[in-house]
Amino acid sequence: MKFSNLSEIASYIVADGKGILAADESNPTCKKRFDTISVESTETNRRDYRELLFSSKGMSENIGGVILFDETIRQKTELGQSLVDLILESGALPGIKVDKGLNPFNGSEVETLTQGLDDLDERCSEYAELGAKFTKWRAVINIGDEIPSQECIDANMEALAKYAKIAQKNGMVPIVEPEVLINGSHSIEDCYDATSRSIKSLFDYLKSYDVDITGTILKPNMVTPGSESEQRASVEEVAEMTIKCLKETVPNELPGVAFLSGGQTEIESTQHLDMMNKIGGFSWKLSFSYGRALQQSALNAWLGKLENKSAAQDAFAHRAKMNKLASLGSWSADLEK
Ligand code: 13P
Repeated sequence: MKFSNLSEIASYIVADGKGILAADESNPTCKKRFDTISVESTETNRRDYRELLFSSKGMSENIGGVILFDETIRQKTELGQSLVDLILESGALPGIKVDKGLNPFNGSEVETLTQGLDDLDERCSEYAELGAKFTKWRAVINIGDEIPSQECIDANMEALAKYAKIAQKNGMVPIVEPEVLINGSHSIEDCYDATSRSIKSLFDYLKSYDVDITGTILKPNMVTPGSESEQRASVEEVAEMTIKCLKETVPNELPGVAFLSGGQTEIESTQHLDMMNKIGGFSWKLSFSYGRALQQSALNAWLGKLENKSAAQDAFAHRAKMNKLASLGSWSADLEK
């Protein structure tokens, strides 16, 4: 695959019903996921699990990009092929998480600032050599008493803009991820407010750092009530409020928006995305960049056992297909049976 500019790479990743597989869990997060199925998080088990996903028939047609963690971009399959080549063979592009996680923001106990800018240029240059075509940086915004503060939003969004500029300088598309966490008892209106402030600030900074928006992908949360909220929102409400929020903040020239699942169930993530695409009326591709919502069933089918490999690959292929359909607004509940 040859690309002449960043905008072609970005458009390829979210072309015609394709989305992104987020498989960039850090080793501690991977351990958390493996603990739920009582599998030890060794380097080989992590490799076997990811090799299983990347060689599933669910990759081609449905997945345009895979986000990797530092360890994975350097790994080889059991037979000695690099995982990067395995992904390319399926028709998807390899990408890499480049942020270094969260530190307290200004000594706060609840607000955080994402780290990783110091040696980012050197690391990006190495990742480009290793075959990465795009990158990801995740900022985390919490909702609670008196938060998010505008200062914390702005500091995180400025870091995202600095990161995006460096990624583009190294020839890779930046995925900019301002995740407003679902955790908490807040209302859908509170989520709307925090999401809208974050995305607005983000595009202001991207503009002031002269980031090429046509070579960028936005990875936001959907607008939902908090996970401990008493409030219930219908599929239509989530879809309508999310679209409204994006239309007010996202420039038309952005090629794609690829949502995170953020703790929604597999079905909710698919259903919400599908409804948004059924409603339509926006210029960008609206697709997925799911971690848990693409992997949960596969992980549960796998259980770390070789004999479960093909069942796990089928489970992943099913979710990938369902989300492809959702990104085209062509999903329906009866397809889940
Ligand atoms: P989830 O879809 O599990 O939220 O993961 C997406 C991701 O990459 C978070 O950074």
